[in-house]
Amino acid sequence: MFRICSTRKLPQHVQDYLTTYATLDILTKEQRESPETFVKYAADADGIITSGMRIDDAILSRLPKLKCVSTSSVGYDHFDTDALKKHGVYATHTPTVLDETVADLTFALILATARRVVELDTVVREGRWAGRPAEWFYGVDVHHRTLGIIGMGRIGEAVARRARLGFEMDVVYHNRSRKPEVEEKLGLEYVSFEELLAKSDFVVLLTPLTEATRGLMDDAAFQKMKSSAIFINVSRGATVNEQALFKALSEGTIRAAGLDVFVKEPTPTTNPLLSLQNVVVLPHIGSATHATRDDMAMLAATNLIAVLEGRLQEARIVPELQSLIKES
Ligand code: DGY
Repeated sequence: MFRICSTRKLPQHVQDYLTTYATLDILTKEQRESPETFVKYAADADGIITSGMRIDDAILSRLPKLKCVSTSSVGYDHFDTDALKKHGVYATHTPTVLDETVADLTFALILATARRVVELDTVVREGRWAGRPAEWFYGVDVHHRTLGIIGMGRIGEAVARRARLGFEMDVVYHNRSRKPEVEEKLGLEYVSFEELLAKSDFVVLLTPLTEATRGLMDDAAFQKMKSSAIFINVSRGATVNEQALFKALSEGTIRAAGLDVFVKEPTPTTNPLLSLQNVVVLPHIGSATHATRDDMAMLAATNLIAVLEGRLQEARIVPELQSLIKES
C-alpha cells in the first residue's frame, strides 16, 4: 500500500477512494504549520495532496520517497517546478473541472462592480436609501460593452462564451498564443496587451502567475485603461501591483475593481484597497462551490493514484513536468 499525506481535509468519498489504495494521513494545522513539522510527518509519503502549500527544493530534499505532489487547484504557482524536475517528482493539478464555476464568479464580480451591488446593499441595510437623488444609485451597463480577457485558457473561453451569448458583448483577448478556433467559434478579436487595455470597458485578468506575469498590472498598465473601465482579477494576487491598483482607483484612473485574489492571502484588514468603496473583494472563492470543490478534490486524488500506479497518461501532470513522462 502507498502512503499519502494530505495537507487539507478531504470529502469523505475522496478519503474512501484513497484508502482503497493507500494509508492516508490528514495533517493537522500544527503538523503542517512549518516546513519542519511538515517534513517530519510527511517523511515517508509516496504522495502528497495539497492546495496552496509551497513545495520547493528544501522540502523535496527531505522527502526521498516522494513520487508525486497533487494539488487540488488548477493554479500550481506554489510548486517550484524546477526543484520537482530535479528531484524527479511529478506534480499534478486540476484543470477543466472548475472552468465554468470560476467563469460564473468572474461574472458575479463584473456585475457587482458595474451595478455597485455590495455598496448599495449597505445603503439599504443602513437606512440610507431615502433622500438621495436617483442618479446617486446609477451604475454602468455590462451588456453590449467591450470585455477584454487577458489569458485565454479554458476559463477565459467560458467567460467569453457568457459575455458573447448572454450579454452580447464585444470580446477582445490577449494570450501568449493566438487561439484561432476559439476566435472563430465565439467571434473574439485577438489584440495586443496595450490595445486590450485601451479598448476594454471591463478588463479581466485570468493569466496564471509566472515570472512573466508577476506584477503585470502596474502603474503603466492602469494608465492605459479607460477612466470608465473596471478591472477584475480572478487569477493570482501577485499578477497585480496592489499599490498601483490603489492609486488608480483612488485617483480615478479607472472606475472600479473586483478582486477575488490578493498578494497575501488572507489579505490583512489594513490593506488600503479595503478602504475603497469602488472595490468589491472576495476571499479567493473562484472555484468554491460544493460540487466543484468535491470534483477538484476527487481529481487530485485520481491524479495522484494514477501517477503512483504508473498510469502517467491518465494524470493531469503540470505542463513543465510533462518531460519527466518521456524520460521515465
Ligand atoms: C485554482 O484552482 O487555482 C483556483 O484559484 C482556486 O479557486
